[in-house]
Amino acid sequence: MIPEIAGYITRREGRKFLKLSDEVDDSLISSSILRPGQQLSLYIHIPFCRKLCPFCCFNRYLFNAEKAREYFIHLRHELDIYIQKGFSFSDFYFGGGTPTILMEELLSFISYLKEKFEVRNISLETTPQEITPEMVATLKKAGINRLSLGVQSFDEGMLKSMGRTLCTAVEAKQKIGLALGQFETVNIDLIFNFPFQTLEKFCSDIKLFKEMDINQVTFYPLMPSPHKKSALERRFAKVDNSREKRYYNSILREIYDQGYQASTVWCFSKGERMIDEYIVNYADYVGIGAGSVSLINGIFYVNSFSLEKYAENLKKDRLPIARRRNLSEKEYYQYYLLTKLFGTKINKVQFKQQFGADIYQKLGTELRLLKLVGAISETADEIRVNRRGMYIISVMMREFFTGLNTLREISIENQI
Ligand SMILES: C[S@@+](CC[C@H](N)C(=O)[O-])C[C@H]1O[C@@H](n2cnc3c(N)ncnc32)[C@H](O)[C@@H]1O
Ligand code: SF4
Repeated sequence: MIPEIAGYITRREGRKFLKLSDEVDDSLISSSILRPGQQLSLYIHIPFCRKLCPFCCFNRYLFNAEKAREYFIHLRHELDIYIQKGFSFSDFYFGGGTPTILMEELLSFISYLKEKFEVRNISLETTPQEITPEMVATLKKAGINRLSLGVQSFDEGMLKSMGRTLCTAVEAKQKIGLALGQFETVNIDLIFNFPFQTLEKFCSDIKLFKEMDINQVTFYPLMPSPHKKSALERRFAKVDNSREKRYYNSILREIYDQGYQASTVWCFSKGERMIDEYIVNYADYVGIGAGSVSLINGIFYVNSFSLEKYAENLKKDRLPIARRRNLSEKEYYQYYLLTKLFGTKINKVQFKQQFGADIYQKLGTELRLLKLVGAISETADEIRVNRRGMYIISVMMREFFTGLNTLREISIENQI
């Protein structure tokens, strides 16, 4: 009951948060709005795939080499505008789509990043089918620290039904084997609570992850946008969130209780905490590429999803921002709370340094409620999500991301 209530509140607040305005003014975006010493991470979106998975809500298009080449030119231009505006980054996250789909362009972009910035970490996601020994060597040489592979499931039947027909589970295992040991972190993504998935199949996926000695796993609860949800339900069965807790309990039992470190409530690493999601490590971030989202000091904005509109703006030397919202102070702190709790802990001292106020002054009601329901524990310096709180925060994040996926769906359909 408590996770459902927490999910309901997040869904309601998330809807308000994601009500965006089309009055955009890119002159508002400048490094002068940053707090002194504030660091941002950079997310870089590559929206091309060889086949489009029916459940996926990200901004993605069927791969076309010419379009993708042109896209990389605009991407560099967008980055240049941020540089001109005085922004600097050291941690980078390539997401998609499939960032490795045009390797020579990706490598040239990474070289450009190294020319312009002091690069500390690069995280990159791709699909297992893309991986070859040569690609692994090239990505390693290019300085990729974390490679994330979207496996979804090791069950052949599941993959077929999910429309992931370009790479079998047997091949995926081989590809993971090629990457293991070559990067600081190799992560795999697994999905849970897919309509026709069974708990047994999911537990086999977890077992295989452990047997293969993979560094890190990110478990995604299914978060379909409304149209994707109806399409899945027409084809398979109801997307039933009441089944989800059983899946999450398996994660707690088989992963969390077995000593894996949680860097988010969905991401678990073997051994020490490894790098993970950009939204957790940095309170604020810039996203470049079509359909990327950014948050800088209370300004939340999304880029054009349409490749044409994205390009049009950049040709005019303008940031390709399509929608924006200036968050209220309360919204900003609540978003901060959600993302930090997603990352399982909040450093109270850091909060005070960053915002010049005690966390209870800004988020007292929320924290007291979370304590009351037994979701968090506290020491003098830190607030931590405890075992009971893990699923509560997972539901809250699922609801927030489902809202974001709905925004993506509307934006793609309207080609904003
Ligand atoms: C954007 S994809 C990039 C990885 C890569 N393109 C791939 O599919 O292998 C990142 C992850 O998002 C997750 N994902 C995509 N659509 C989702 C949805 N509707 N609900 C939950 N997770 C989703 C998948 O687990 C996927 O691996
Ligand atoms: S899940 Fe990955 S491969 Fe499939 S459409 Fe989405 S981004 Fe592309």
